[in-house]
Amino acid sequence: MELSVNKRIRNIGIVVAVVLILITVIRLYHPLLPTYTASVVSSYRSWSSSGIAPASYHAQDDIQITDDQEKCDIFTGEWVPNPEAPYYTNKTCWAIHEHQNCMKYGRPDSGFMKWRWKPDGCDLPVFNPYQFLDMVRGKSMAFVGDSVGRNQMQSMICLLSRVEYPIDVSPTPDERFKRWRYETYNFTFGYFWSPFLVRSENRDSDGPTHTGLFNLHLDDFDQSWTTQIDDFDYVILNAGHWFTRPAVYYENSHIVGCRFCQLPNITDLQMTYGYRRVFRTAFKAINARENFKGVTFLRTFAPSHFENGLWNEGGNCLRQRPFRSNETLLEGLNLDLYMIQLEEFRAAQKEGKKKFRLLDTTQAMLLRPDGHPSRYGHWPNENVTLYNDCVHWCLPGPIDSWADFLLHMIKMEARRTYKEKLLQHQKKMQ
Ligand SMILES: *[C@@H]1O[C@H](CO)[C@@H](O)[C@H](O)[C@H]1NC(C)=O
Ligand SMILES: *[C@@H]1O[C@H](CO)[C@@H](O)[C@H](O)[C@H]1NC(C)=O
Ligand SMILES: *[C@@H]1O[C@H](CO)[C@@H](O)[C@H](O)[C@H]1NC(C)=O
Ligand SMILES: *[C@@H]1O[C@H](CO)[C@@H](O)[C@H](O)[C@H]1NC(C)=O
Ligand SMILES: *[C@@H]1O[C@H](CO)[C@@H](O)[C@H](O)[C@H]1NC(C)=O
Repeated sequence: MELSVNKRIRNIGIVVAVVLILITVIRLYHPLLPTYTASVVSSYRSWSSSGIAPASYHAQDDIQITDDQEKCDIFTGEWVPNPEAPYYTNKTCWAIHEHQNCMKYGRPDSGFMKWRWKPDGCDLPVFNPYQFLDMVRGKSMAFVGDSVGRNQMQSMICLLSRVEYPIDVSPTPDERFKRWRYETYNFTFGYFWSPFLVRSENRDSDGPTHTGLFNLHLDDFDQSWTTQIDDFDYVILNAGHWFTRPAVYYENSHIVGCRFCQLPNITDLQMTYGYRRVFRTAFKAINARENFKGVTFLRTFAPSHFENGLWNEGGNCLRQRPFRSNETLLEGLNLDLYMIQLEEFRAAQKEGKKKFRLLDTTQAMLLRPDGHPSRYGHWPNENVTLYNDCVHWCLPGPIDSWADFLLHMIKMEARRTYKEKLLQHQKKMQ
C-alpha cells in the first residue's frame, strides 16, 4: 500500500515536471501565446536555459538614488565595456521589430551590444526590470512620436521580458496605436504614432524625393494623442527624422511656406522652422490638458550616422565601435535640432503648469555610429526604401541604455515627491 502511494506521488511529480518543461518549451518557441501560468517562473526557466543571465533583484541595487547621483549629470559621459550585456536575444524576446532584428539578417559582429553608459560624475546602474516594474505598479507610460519611439518601447518590452511579457490590449487592430498591459503589475505601455506631433496629412505619397509630401498644420494639435494622454502617468515625446521629408507648412490654416515641396509660389523654409513650431504646439497641447497630471519626458533627438553619402545616396554606417566623447562633436543640423528642442522645452517648463523632464539621449547616441541596422534590417535582395538604416537601433543594442536613464529619472521623481512632502510637512509644523 505505502509503496504504491509513494510511487503515485513520484509519478505525479514526473507529470508536473514534464508539464513545466513543456510550458517552458512552448513559451520559448511560441512566445506569442498568452501566459496562463505564473509567467515569472516560466520566463525565469527559459532564461536560465538560454545562456543569458536572469535578472535578480539585487539587494545592492538601491531603489533610492544617492546625493552624488542626484547632483550628477547622467547624460554626459562615455560608453564603457559591459561583458554582461546583452540581457536578451532575438530568441528570448519576440518584441524585436523585423527591421531592427540585426542578428537575424546576418550582422556579423556583436560587440556593439556590449557597452553601457558611464556618466562622468557618477555611476548609472544597468536597468533592473524587477525594480522598474515595482516602481511603476498601477501606472502607465505612453510613447508618442515616430518609429524610434516604438524602437524604445520594444527595447523596454525585451528588457522587461525577464520578468513578464505584456498582453496586447490595443483598442483597435491599428498598428499605429498600441496598448500593452503587464497583468501582474497593472502597468500599461501606450504607443501613439505621430511622427510630426501635429495634425498632418499625406498630400502626395510620392512627392519630389519619392518619400511623400506632407501637409503639416504647425499650430494644430494631433488629437489622436493629445486627447488620449490624461490617463497616462508618463508621456515620452519624440520627433525628428521625418522633418527631412518634403512638407507644406500651414499656420492658421494658411500656407506659410514649405520645405522642398517644389510647388510654385511657395516660400522655401528650413526644416528647423517646422521643427520648432511642432514642439511648441505639442507642449502647448500638454499644458492645456486640465486633467493630465503626469510627467512629460522629452526624449531628445538621436542623430543618424550616415557616412559617405546621404541615406538615398549610398551612405552607410559600418563602424563597429562607439566613439569616445573627444572623437566627435554635435554640430550642424543635429545641433540645430537639439537646441530647438531645448529652447522649446524650457519655454514649456517655464509655464509652470506641468512636469516636464529632459530624457537627454542626444550626446550618448551621437557616440554610437555602431548601433544601427545598416543593411542588416532586411534580406539583401529586399527592395526597401531605407536600404542602409542608420536611423533606428538594433535590438539588443545601445537604445537599451535609454531604460537605464529612464529608471534613474523615475527614481528622481520619487525623490522629488518625497522631498516636496517633507517640505510641506515641515511648513505645517512651523
Ligand atoms: C535570431 O538570430 C539568429 C542569428 O543569430 C538567426 O539565425 C535566427 O533566425 C533569429 N531568430 C529570430 C526568431 O529572429
Ligand atoms: C490598476 O491601476 C489603475 C490606475 O492606473 C487603477 O485605477 C486600477 O484600480 C488598478 N487596478 C487594479 C486591479 O489594481
Ligand atoms: C505665381 O506668382 C506670380 C506673380 O505673383 C503670378 O503671376 C503667377 O500666376 C503665380 N503662379 C501660380 C501658379 O499661382
Ligand atoms: C581621446 O581621449 C582618450 C582618453 O583620454 C585618448 O587616449 C585619445 O587619444 C583621445 N583622442 C583624441 C582624438 O583626442
Ligand atoms: C523597388 O521598388 C520601387 C518602388 O516600390 C520600384 O520603382 C523599383 O523599380 C524597385 N526596384 C527593384 C530592383 O525591384
